[in-house]
Amino acid sequence: MNSKKISDPRHRSGTAESSDQSLQAELKRKGNIPAHIAVIMDGNGRWAKKRGLPRIAGHHEGVESVRDTVEACGQLGVKYLTLYAFSTENWKRPKEEVSLLMRLLMGALRDETDKLHRNNVRVHTIGDTASLPAEVQTELKEAIERTKQNSGLNLLLALSYSGRWDMATAMRAIAHEVEAGKIGAGAIDETLIGKYLSTGGIPDPDLLIRTSGEFRISNFLLWQLAYSEIYISPCYWPDFRRAELYNAIGDYQQRERRFGMVSEQVREPQRSQISQFFKNLSGT
Ligand code: FPP
Repeated sequence: MNSKKISDPRHRSGTAESSDQSLQAELKRKGNIPAHIAVIMDGNGRWAKKRGLPRIAGHHEGVESVRDTVEACGQLGVKYLTLYAFSTENWKRPKEEVSLLMRLLMGALRDETDKLHRNNVRVHTIGDTASLPAEVQTELKEAIERTKQNSGLNLLLALSYSGRWDMATAMRAIAHEVEAGKIGAGAIDETLIGKYLSTGGIPDPDLLIRTSGEFRISNFLLWQLAYSEIYISPCYWPDFRRAELYNAIGDYQQRERRFGMVSEQVREPQRSQISQFFKNLSGT
C-alpha cells in the first residue's frame, strides 16, 4: 500500500468535474487501468451503527457508492466491474433486512437503468438469481435486456452468489456433459472449468477491493481471484467514493504481477526468453 493518496476531487480548487477529469487522466498516464475490478462492499451496517441509524440506512448510502464507483469505472475505461451485492450466506440475515435489501436493489435497478443505459453500461448477473424474489428477477431481466447492446463497462452484479456455489454448479454441469458422453474426463482442465463458471468468457479480476478494513475473501470469486491483486480499503462501503477507487487503482499500478514467475521475466520478458533460448541450445 505504497501509492501516493489522491485527495477527494470535491475538495480541490476549480470545478469538481474538471479536477476529476485530470485525476483520471493522471491515472491513465501513470499505468494500466485494471480491465476487471471486483469489489466486496463491506461495512454498511457499521457505517449506520456509528451514526445511530438502522442498518438499512447504511445500505441506502451504499447505493450512492455503487453509483459513483460505476460511473468512475466507466469513465476510466474499466471493462468489467463485479460487485458482491448479496452472497449465498446473506440469506441467513434477519428476514426483515433481507427483504429491505431486496426492495432496495429493485428500486435501484428501476431508478438507475436509464442512466446506466445512457452511460453505455451493460448489466449482467452472476449467482443463483432464480432464488431471488420474482419482482427482483423481473427488474434484473429488464435491465439486462435493455443494456445488452452496450459496449462500455460490463457491470456484473453478484446476487445470491458464492464462490463455492459457482464451483459446485460448474462441476455439476461438467459431470452432466461427461455422463452424456459430450466430453471425456481427460478434457477437464483449468480452461474448461473456467468456461463453466458463471464468469465464463470474462477475464479474471485484476484487482479485488474490499472495504471496511477486513482481510477476508468471504466466499467471493474463489477460483477467479487466484492471481488478483488485493486492496483493502479502511473506508466503510458507504464512505467509498471515486477518490478511494483512484487510490486503489494507483496502488495496483505499483504492484509487480509475477504470476509465479521471477521479477526479471516480468520486467524484461524478451531478454529473459532469449537467454532461455540460448540456455536450451547449450543444454545448460
Ligand atoms: C455489506 O455490508 C453489504 C451488503 C451485504 C449489501 C450490499 C448492498 C448494497 C450496497 C446496496 C444494493 C446494491 C446494488 C448493487 C444497487 P454489511 O451489512 O455486511 O456491513 P457490516 O459488516 O458493517 O455489518
